[in-house]
Amino acid sequence: MNSYNYLDLLSELGINSAHPGGMERTSNMLADEPIQKGMKVLDVGCGTGETSLFLKNNYQCKVHALENHPVMLQKAKERVKNESDIEVIEGSIENMPFSDHTYDYIICESVLVFVHVKKALDECFRVLKKNGTFIMNEMAITNVLDESSLNRFKEFYCVTELNNKEQWKNKMLQAGFKRVEEMYVESITSEQVSINLSPDIDPSILELLDQHQKLQQEFERKIGHVIYSCCK
Ligand SMILES: C[S@@+](CC[C@H](N)C(=O)[O-])C[C@H]1O[C@@H](n2cnc3c(N)ncnc32)[C@H](O)[C@@H]1O
Repeated sequence: MNSYNYLDLLSELGINSAHPGGMERTSNMLADEPIQKGMKVLDVGCGTGETSLFLKNNYQCKVHALENHPVMLQKAKERVKNESDIEVIEGSIENMPFSDHTYDYIICESVLVFVHVKKALDECFRVLKKNGTFIMNEMAITNVLDESSLNRFKEFYCVTELNNKEQWKNKMLQAGFKRVEEMYVESITSEQVSINLSPDIDPSILELLDQHQKLQQEFERKIGHVIYSCCK
């Protein structure tokens, strides 16, 4: 029995943009967003903080980066240690340490599938300003999947809930979001994964990496992702 899980694998390997499509997709996804200088943006479940830094560098906004995994927190803090406009904060998306109506934008990249979706979406809705924008990029079921395969996938990836596109959209509407729209994002040519290995990596981590690569091949045409943008 491996004592690490998938999120530990990502943190130990220092995967910098651990969401579908990587930074290329983030860049395309945000290209037309009117994020203004000084706006308050939350990168929720920020991982190592690559998107947080991208946001600050490209939009001169003020970024809060929320994370609850100790290794991710440490890597995100290290990345932005010289950035006065980015604050890395420890906390859970399910119970955020922020006041109501705080953010102009919330960016959520590959986080909801790992948490209690209703609690997380209710929290995102609560801390978003009126007319603020919530954007999510999440795994989605894209083809017929039998229950035992789905459970195997969920167990390996510590996924609490996996939805198809329509189900994701309904979850957002139920949380109170409006104008929920699937975003068109230019397709990418290949997945670019940037790895920053921790020193003295444990062999169990490499074992998990091997299992991950096999599962990616097996589920290639069954599980994809969806990007939705909506507002409050
Ligand atoms: C697949 S990674 C994505 C990280 C980052 N958004 C990115 O795209 O690189 C999922 C992240 O969600 C974080 N996470 C999981 N549960 C969380 C929670 N309850 N609150 C905040 N972050 C959480 C994990 O620690 C991990 O960093």
